[in-house]
Amino acid sequence: MDHNKQCQQCLTRIKASGKYQALLSNKTQVFEQRLDQNFPRLFSLLLTIYDNQYDLYSHIEALVCELLGSFKKRKISLKSSDEQRVLNPSWYRNEQMVGMAVYVDLVADDLQTLITKIPYYQELGITYLHLMPLYLSPEGDSDGGYAVSDYRQVDPKLGATKDLKALAVALKKAGINLVLDFVFNHTSDEHQWAQKAQQGDEQFQDYYFLFSDREDADQYDNSLREIFPSVRRGCFTYLEQMQKWVWTTFNSFQWDLNYQNPAVFRAMTQEMLYLANLGCDLLRLDALAFVWKEKGTQCENLPKAHLLIQAFNVCREIVCPGVVFKSEAIVHPDEVVKYIGKEECQTSYNPLLMALMWESLATRKTELLQLSLQRRFTINNDCSWVNYARCHDDIGWTFDDADAGELGINGESHREFLNKFYTGSFEGSFSKGLGFQYNPENGDCRVCGSLASLCGLEKALISQNQEHIEHAVARIKLLHGIILTIGGIPLLYQGDELAALNDYSFEQDDKKKHDSRWVNRPKLTTNMLVASNTEGTAQHAVFSAIKKMIALRKASPILGESDTQILLLTQPKLLAYKRNHATLGTATFVANFSEFPQTVSLHELDVEDNLELTDQISDTRYTNVRELTLAPYQILWLTK
Ligand code: GLC
Ligand code: GLC
Repeated sequence: MDHNKQCQQCLTRIKASGKYQALLSNKTQVFEQRLDQNFPRLFSLLLTIYDNQYDLYSHIEALVCELLGSFKKRKISLKSSDEQRVLNPSWYRNEQMVGMAVYVDLVADDLQTLITKIPYYQELGITYLHLMPLYLSPEGDSDGGYAVSDYRQVDPKLGATKDLKALAVALKKAGINLVLDFVFNHTSDEHQWAQKAQQGDEQFQDYYFLFSDREDADQYDNSLREIFPSVRRGCFTYLEQMQKWVWTTFNSFQWDLNYQNPAVFRAMTQEMLYLANLGCDLLRLDALAFVWKEKGTQCENLPKAHLLIQAFNVCREIVCPGVVFKSEAIVHPDEVVKYIGKEECQTSYNPLLMALMWESLATRKTELLQLSLQRRFTINNDCSWVNYARCHDDIGWTFDDADAGELGINGESHREFLNKFYTGSFEGSFSKGLGFQYNPENGDCRVCGSLASLCGLEKALISQNQEHIEHAVARIKLLHGIILTIGGIPLLYQGDELAALNDYSFEQDDKKKHDSRWVNRPKLTTNMLVASNTEGTAQHAVFSAIKKMIALRKASPILGESDTQILLLTQPKLLAYKRNHATLGTATFVANFSEFPQTVSLHELDVEDNLELTDQISDTRYTNVRELTLAPYQILWLTK
């Protein structure tokens, strides 16, 4: 039978089934329409992913009923927001969008007290708040919450589900979008599925990758990359009690889910829709590059990982189209972009911009940044980058080695230099960071540290060198200036607006000391807030500059949907880009990545001279100039 006919028959059969019929009501028409529209895509995706499964049809039938069940549980207010957003599908490509990622217990005490911080976020201009994973997770080390024991239960230390729902409502009222994590590559070993598997339940053993024979595990392990090599070698963990090896890409207590089993896809779709129904606006698809595994491959970015995410996306489209996916693919730039698309992830972290801004700060050269962005910044117009300078994780030196090669840069030794520079072992470095996950076998390493410490503020404050303090502050402003204007959703990280320094207290904590990412997860203190409010401090300079730039962004519609054009300059220490819009005109940005003044001609910026120009950030006017001189680390935002 041909594919379309099969698809039609399958849908007809599902619709006629007693179970589906029993769920229908006069309030499910929207669902039925969306199902009709999207079923062909869902059907062909699942057929391709699960080609050899004898029971696939019964899974599809059950899945559709589960989707309808989740739709029925969705609040009316969320359903109407879905419908509005369907009419305005690029609602998130908007100058009003300004994000921040926070750990509930590090910026407040719990969900209830976080509600009282909403005015702070409003004052700063935040309209997108990502709450780092707040689900039930193992006591002690839980990978910062990324080992989830129950997606439907809030970590009791933070509150209860009702508090999360109340927070979602309060945020909505305040005009702030809520972002939650969909941690779907793995569960914790304390999740009930993992527990049942440990008790010998074969149905749940099939939810994971368990091998009695080490050789079977090795057939995969031999071609895998190690993500946390300083915690454990290889990607498998031996379970004494079961006498089996379990696949654990990250920590030993994070068990990778087996999506070759369609029951896992169904079960996780329900968890995803549960989170959507709590009232979140964006879901962050954690570690999505790893979700499909095949022998003899690296098990990252496989074609079926994409199909699987597309299948989740169709379910999203049917049940909660107002929710947007964000891809967390911290992989080679060629692979990052493959997750971006209306049919897969509508938004994506931009690790290339992040890493190369730090690269340019270290080298005081922007060639690699300019070239890489010129080639790689443009994505599908309906989608959006999420641009960040720092996050809760480490910095990995992602760039394309061939791009670097064209500039005479050797990728491997350049990464080695960057690691040395940012961990302070390169002479003259301004930075104070820590190494992360050094792999003695291949020399790989990443870097941790708070944005302010990596920018030089920690060292400068210790030495009380005024010029160095100013440079550090200017670097912090520069990075934020770029993420706020280059095109996409800017995402700030908790405490960076307060110039929070490294927090070394994790070194005294047995549950954290093996994971240096904790150095950039400081608990925010009253002292930090006071400093940011005290004129004359570096913290105040940072806070007020960021607040001002956020306000400027939000008052500039051109920073919403307009195109980004990256200029290739002959000036090797500057980065310049334009935002062009058919009716709103053009804004030109130039950023100086060095501690010395730099001059650039208007001609090179493709700006007519003899014009009257204004720099929005410093409120300076330039009349009849042919060139501009930027102060150390200055960023200019030029408009007519
Ligand atoms: C993501 C998170 C990171 C976590 C990993 C495993 O990359 O950002 O913190 O360790 O996934 O869930
Ligand atoms: C790797 C992974 C990324 C994860 C990070 C955590 O870079 O690709 O997903 O966030 O490790 O350190």
